[in-house]
Amino acid sequence: MSRLKVVVAGATGKTGQEAAKAVWGASDLELVGAVARRRIGEDLGEVLGEGHWGVPIASDLAVLLNDQRPDVLVDFTQPEVAGRHALLAVRSGVSPVVGTTGMPCAEMEELRQAVTDTGRGALIIPNFSFGIVLLERFCTEALRFFPDVEIIEFHHQRKLDRPSGTARMLQGVLERNGAHSPVPVHSVRLPGLVAHHEIIFGGPGETIRLRHDTLSRASFGPGVVLAVRRALHVRGVVENLSELLGEV
Ligand SMILES: NC(=O)c1ccc[n+]([C@@H]2O[C@H](COP(=O)([O-])OP(=O)(O)OC[C@H]3O[C@@H](n4cnc5c(N)ncnc54)[C@H](OP(=O)(O)O)[C@@H]3O)[C@@H](O)[C@H]2O)c1
Repeated sequence: MSRLKVVVAGATGKTGQEAAKAVWGASDLELVGAVARRRIGEDLGEVLGEGHWGVPIASDLAVLLNDQRPDVLVDFTQPEVAGRHALLAVRSGVSPVVGTTGMPCAEMEELRQAVTDTGRGALIIPNFSFGIVLLERFCTEALRFFPDVEIIEFHHQRKLDRPSGTARMLQGVLERNGAHSPVPVHSVRLPGLVAHHEIIFGGPGETIRLRHDTLSRASFGPGVVLAVRRALHVRGVVENLSELLGEV
């Protein structure tokens, strides 16, 4: 069986490199290209300290899509870049799996329209961690008894968007499942943090805290691989990893 061809944009970044390593390590996937702004022409495996992969880093996604004809684009770049990349992918017949968060609303709408027009699918997933899927499910159970709830998200100080895409996604889940709206979201940005989400439910004389801690970006790899494998089969825009997992 032929392997799914994958390009990773932002492959040298903190998260993109974990995505690239996960794709490289999956026997049914073939990493055929990498995009960044620096280290152009260098081998991605060597840049990541993983040995020679034969995958040169390119600067122009359009050229790469045309040359390599991948099935899937994985993007972990920047909010201003990811929408353009995803649109380019959809219009080139490539399925986008976007991990970049904070994409402007106008670009999300343009992407939705392009996906509808082409009859294709796009995955815009704010968090690829399986632990976050479980957190969502635990939240819906707690909400049955505790509809008063607030979210605190903690991230490293270089994170560009606030609140985090994951906090927005959790806010939507809580509000759709009976929380008193709007659910407040508080953001903390400090050195030393990676990505942490805490949900506090309050009731008469008691509180419950549900918390997820991302300790390493390697936690996103299995979710990215799962999304890549499903990317060709989804229709419309999928925004939650939970939808890809079904009943677990
Ligand atoms: N969905 C999830 O599970 C998840 C998890 C973690 C992070 N994220 C999101 O992923 C995104 C990336 O975060 P990060 O911390 O990994 O960022 P980062 O370390 O700054 O990496 C960004 C990457 O994108 C590349 N890049 C930036 N602008 C580009 C452009 N115009 N053209 C081509 N490549 C470009 C950078 O290349 P150069 O270094 O060469 O500029 C680098 O490889 C953020 O939106 C973050 O919120 C999502």
